[in-house]
Amino acid sequence: MRVLFASSEVFPLIKTGGLADVSGALPAALAAAGTDIRLLMPGYPVAMDGVTGKRRVADLGDSLGVGSPASLVSGKMPGTNLPVWLIDCPALYDRPGGPYQDASGADHADNHMRFGLLSRVAAQLSCEDSPLKWRAQVLHANDWQTGLAAAYLHHWGPRERAGTVFSIHNIAYQGLFPKKVVAPLGFDWSLFGMDGFEFWDQLSFLKSGLVFSDKIATVSRRYAKEIQAAPFGCGMEGVLAHRHADLCGILNGADYAVWNTATDPCLAQRFATADMVAGKAANKAALQSELGLVLDPEAPLLIIVSRLNDLKGMDLVPAVLPAILRLGGQLAVLGTGDAALEASFRAAALQSPGQVAARIGYSEELAHRLMAGGDMLVMPSRFEPCGLTQLYAFRYGTVPVAHAVGGLADTVVDAGYDSLLNGTATGFLFEHTNPGAFQWSLERAIDLFRRKEDWRRLQGAAAAGDFGWDRSAECYQDLYQSVLPHHDGKTRRPV
Ligand code: ADP
Ligand code: GLC
Repeated sequence: MRVLFASSEVFPLIKTGGLADVSGALPAALAAAGTDIRLLMPGYPVAMDGVTGKRRVADLGDSLGVGSPASLVSGKMPGTNLPVWLIDCPALYDRPGGPYQDASGADHADNHMRFGLLSRVAAQLSCEDSPLKWRAQVLHANDWQTGLAAAYLHHWGPRERAGTVFSIHNIAYQGLFPKKVVAPLGFDWSLFGMDGFEFWDQLSFLKSGLVFSDKIATVSRRYAKEIQAAPFGCGMEGVLAHRHADLCGILNGADYAVWNTATDPCLAQRFATADMVAGKAANKAALQSELGLVLDPEAPLLIIVSRLNDLKGMDLVPAVLPAILRLGGQLAVLGTGDAALEASFRAAALQSPGQVAARIGYSEELAHRLMAGGDMLVMPSRFEPCGLTQLYAFRYGTVPVAHAVGGLADTVVDAGYDSLLNGTATGFLFEHTNPGAFQWSLERAIDLFRRKEDWRRLQGAAAAGDFGWDRSAECYQDLYQSVLPHHDGKTRRPV
């Protein structure tokens, strides 16, 4: 089966969050399972530099009239044989800053064009207009940045086209633009209505993906249910409830080639799962010393590796911090995000040196060391479509304390009476989004941390869990199968 996987970020080429991890690992797992899969992404300079064996394979012209022609560059993901196509369009992608924002943190003013082109090329490679011999039978588009692809296919009405799957990684990010972008993107007004990509008189890339794709996937079963109602649906609950027969939840996986304590090059000391106790002790001591925390093996070390915003529940942390400190805990934070939250974590570190450390920034290496040296991973997310860090934490013997939503509820087994007795507990969950409930779960965690044998059992169960990508890849293969055009792609699809 030929699948085109379109995404705006792919690890290790470029990453702002979990979407990149998924786009790096899932296609590799699908390829290993026999799928003929190609990645498509924007030709950001770091991505162009990162791929191997680059060659130009097609001219794409200046279809959106941005003033410079685009071309398709083919390459391989670093260190693998996985094919990736980059859209080389310097006018849109060759600039400083991140994929969505400039260096000052403001959205790029032409994001609709940057991701309009990504969507358009994805559509082109999925129908008879493709300039390549290889033609997708299935287009798997991810998040709002690729949401217009299915709309282009609908609009063009090609004789043959790929089946389309649209994945929601986070419905809170919707790609909403003023309606004046409709014509520049190459559409007429026929799709700008309630049944199309119009959303409160604006153009929504995300809604386009939801409305025009054959199937919709999201990254956990719980989240698939949650988003069919407010407030989780973020305004899209009606559309999703309407399409619920075509909506499914497939849990993300963890890339154990990257997250493996025995081979991790970032760790102070690598260790096998069987040597968890000694391995974690060594990494904890190294981490405490790296971060300027008091060197104390008995102090529960809580870690945060996260975007710092309210969706991640980070505003609840300052409220519970006094309790953590009172109970002798330490807190180490790695993240970037809202300026006020960044400032508040910096201030907490200044106020309690030796007990609180804040690293405001992005560091893949430190993230790995935190996972290895920490005792508990704090995830009070208000919404969490899947969450990947808790999966990494499991393997690294760091126990999640998390809000029972989305993928967190689907992956963490709360340490209750039964689950502790039968050895299935892997973390701590709290149900209500308030500091009191959050604090209670932290207190339970810190209490259990002091009961060494119970704690080791919990760590052991967490580390033994298998959240590898193979199982999810199988589910995606079934999903792809369900949207395949009948009879070797010759049947005209209703558009
Ligand atoms: P989301 O995609 O919503 O941010 P996920 O848990 O799915 O949440 O994925 C977050 C990914 O980004 C993980 O790989 C995590 O380790 C990483 N990450 C988040 N913030 C940082 C940071 N400041 N430094 C390094 N890695 C980070
Ligand atoms: C999003 C979600 C996160 C999920 C990730 C990958 O960024 O916020 O929960 O794990 O996408 O699917």
